Amino acid sequence: MGDNRQPIGVIGTGYVGLVTAAGFAHLGSDVFCIDIDADKVARLKAGEIPIYEPGLEEMVQANRERLHFSTQIADALEHARLLFVAVGTPPTYSGDADLSAVRAVVDAIPASDRHALVMKSTVPAGTGASIKRVLAESGKQSLSYVSCPEFLKEGSAVKDFLDPDRVVIGDEGDWAGDAVVELYAPLDAPLVRTDIASAEMVKLASNAFLATKISFINEIANVCEETGSDVIEVARGMGLDDRIGPKFLQAGIGFGGSCFPKDVNALKQLAGNSGYHFQLLNAVIEVNELQKRRVIGKLQKHLGSLVGRTVCLLGLAFKPNTDDMREASSLVLSARLQADGAKVRVYDPIAEEEARQLIRGVHFATDALDAVQGADAVVLVTEWDEFAQLDWRQVADLMAGTLVLDGRNALDADAVRAAGLTYEGIGRGALTAIA
Ligand SMILES: NC(=O)c1ccc[n+]([C@@H]2O[C@H](COP(=O)([O-])OP(=O)(O)OC[C@H]3O[C@@H](n4cnc5c(N)ncnc54)[C@H](O)[C@@H]3O)[C@@H](O)[C@H]2O)c1
Repeated sequence: MGDNRQPIGVIGTGYVGLVTAAGFAHLGSDVFCIDIDADKVARLKAGEIPIYEPGLEEMVQANRERLHFSTQIADALEHARLLFVAVGTPPTYSGDADLSAVRAVVDAIPASDRHALVMKSTVPAGTGASIKRVLAESGKQSLSYVSCPEFLKEGSAVKDFLDPDRVVIGDEGDWAGDAVVELYAPLDAPLVRTDIASAEMVKLASNAFLATKISFINEIANVCEETGSDVIEVARGMGLDDRIGPKFLQAGIGFGGSCFPKDVNALKQLAGNSGYHFQLLNAVIEVNELQKRRVIGKLQKHLGSLVGRTVCLLGLAFKPNTDDMREASSLVLSARLQADGAKVRVYDPIAEEEARQLIRGVHFATDALDAVQGADAVVLVTEWDEFAQLDWRQVADLMAGTLVLDGRNALDADAVRAAGLTYEGIGRGALTAIA
């Protein structure tokens, strides 16, 4: 890639920061990565990648000489004009976004007409305006500000960086917006250049819409169970309509992760704080919570009381190909099952280390076949590929009971049934009727 690419700074080296840094290094920029977590910086300097993300390690290794890691923001300020901010914005108890890490970065940047903050972190619409106000109040009005929300998906983040559906840049038409446009130019992605508040809202509205689509199909699935319809067939028929599209129409046991729950809540709170009651989002959130808990009802339908029963959870991460456990459905399920007196055995191919910090009282199995041993029921929670490849006859031999609850409609129902097991999916009323 080009030799004349401008150096950049990336503040926060989590999922978004590290992928952004590696991606821009791949495109030819020197990237100065800053994190307050000294341990993380030491690991990164040693060539260790602290998160699991397909292709990231290879990309970091291939561009090592262009990637520089430090705990000192001064190292980025010295070399780079554009400072991408990718620190966490987790939810507070009220559901609002916690902007304390963003504020800490704003406070740490000195007055300068050479530098710009480029906000990658997801922030409520209006944050850019309030940051600019804070900068002006502290004599730092010469700093430029650009909103550049991130749309990458964990599990395919590297691919998403290299081939984004769109790049959204909100700015005030100064040098910094132009510089960000130039930086992204080699990716040849559709560009939406707009004002700061609109760019901020694109991100929140996109995630809220996707979450709405999931809760919608989950409710359709629940109705399918009552009407003897199969939600997979229904979604196939719906998705062929160009206006609807096939994506995000997979029924399951609810969405999780670090973004959807937080961003939907943040938009709901943002609207509420501005005096608007966003009714639809209340329903999206409630449907999602109930969807996780419906699993318990289904288990009880087949097993009766769960006291003393052994339930196996296959998969713990909030989705496949990541070790991210934030807001994973497995957190609610493992807690609810134990509260109902069940013994819980769990297995995840990648997320065990993260899960051990968050899930107590369960047995962590060494592999899927170890996990199903003695189980009265097996619940597919995360659709890792390896679970679809399981030998169901072997599983049937190892289980104490026969119930397989496919929480992601990802298993071959015929293969499960052929092994003498009872298959139950989500919204597969037609299948249940045939059985
Ligand atoms: N994870 C995703 O899939 C995704 C996708 C799009 C947008 N986002 C948004 O991007 C932002 C970052 O998300 P993430 O998942 O990468 O978070 P993360 O928790 O993985 O990483 C955040 C990093 O910022 C560091 N940090 C915190 N305060 C700092 C400071 N003052 N100075 C320097 N470093 C600091 C933390 O130590 C951590 O390494 C969030 O706003 C999130 O909503 C995330």
